Amino acid sequence: MSLPILTRRRTLGTGQYSMEVSALGFGVMGMNYNRGPHPDRAELIALLHQAAERGVTLFDTAQVYGPLINEELAGEGLYPYRDRVSVTTKFGHRIVDGKYFEGELDSSPANIRRVAEESLQRLRVDAIDLFYQHRLDPAVPIEDVAGTVRDLIREGKVKRFGLCEVGAQTIRRAHAVQPVTAVQSEYHLMWREQEKEVFPVLQELGIGFVPYSPLNRGFLGGGITEYTRFDSGNDNRNTLPRFTPEAIRANLAIVEVLNAFGRTRGMTSAQVALAWMMAKQPWIVPIPGTTKLAHLDENIRTADLTLTPAEVQELESNVSRVRIVGDRYPASQQRQVEGG
Ligand SMILES: NC(=O)c1ccc[n+]([C@@H]2O[C@H](COP(=O)([O-])OP(=O)(O)OC[C@H]3O[C@@H](n4cnc5c(N)ncnc54)[C@H](OP(=O)(O)O)[C@@H]3O)[C@@H](O)[C@H]2O)c1
Repeated sequence: MSLPILTRRRTLGTGQYSMEVSALGFGVMGMNYNRGPHPDRAELIALLHQAAERGVTLFDTAQVYGPLINEELAGEGLYPYRDRVSVTTKFGHRIVDGKYFEGELDSSPANIRRVAEESLQRLRVDAIDLFYQHRLDPAVPIEDVAGTVRDLIREGKVKRFGLCEVGAQTIRRAHAVQPVTAVQSEYHLMWREQEKEVFPVLQELGIGFVPYSPLNRGFLGGGITEYTRFDSGNDNRNTLPRFTPEAIRANLAIVEVLNAFGRTRGMTSAQVALAWMMAKQPWIVPIPGTTKLAHLDENIRTADLTLTPAEVQELESNVSRVRIVGDRYPASQQRQVEGG
């Protein structure tokens, strides 16, 4: 079988701040943070090279992943490809001298500037392709955040602005100060909240959408069962209500729906999950993460699998018959997201 090469492109945002990227991106986070055991650094770097060689041009990281080590990995791994790939990163958590103050936010202009300077070093780039606010900081008006990123863009340190997990009004207010290229929020067949109020605003303003955890942290890939044990030191699925053994046992009915749909079409459950969201809008670019070449190839092939509107409806209607057990976030983390 020939190697899958990702030739399809999609555009996030419009006009001066638009960004053309591969139709599917790559989430770097889980390579060394929050997704349990992982291969050694040399293997991870080789996998990043494989992704770039296969045509992936959008790679996603954040200062808080690790903290810092995930940006460092992306910076080192993608350095040979820096002229043809984009690395997006995020600010907004309180991290001082490499120490993460869990749950504390800091989108003060001074901190945004500090993160920009440090991320440029770790990513080994001259300008950050897309700089997202990771979580809304109630202490800093979104206009001040957007204004600070606008200034960084004028200074040439950042190219574009993004937001994560925000509601419609915040998007409008930010966009009025500095056009937003993309909003990145959780979105998959088990979490579709964004369709209600956020998608109409994105459509209206011409902003792209980057679904994070598009496989619901691996769950929709089908390899997780009630007997799966998550690494207590490096896997946040331990803390998520949807990943208790009881919730997993109940929610596996959704994976069965995806398997049944894929069986007649030669698609795996992960491919069904990704193809579904790519069929929803042309301005959606998912960023599944993996530590395995086989999964990278499987995910990349999704870009060539098209679902018709009737198939999308069939899938949604079959999934809607399953009652999902467990919240997506514990209360402390849910408080940090808007509109969902
Ligand atoms: N903005 C935010 O607040 C936010 C929050 C969370 C994540 N993110 C971003 O979103 C990216 C992806 O999110 P995520 O890692 O949480 O979730 P995800 O992409 O939904 O799932 C990743 C998990 O799925 C498994 N997987 C990947 N492809 C598979 C396949 N074809 N079949 C079966 N399993 C497969 C991976 O395991 P293997 O390694 O075994 O393949 C990995 O553990 C992150 O890297 C990060 O950049 C952003």
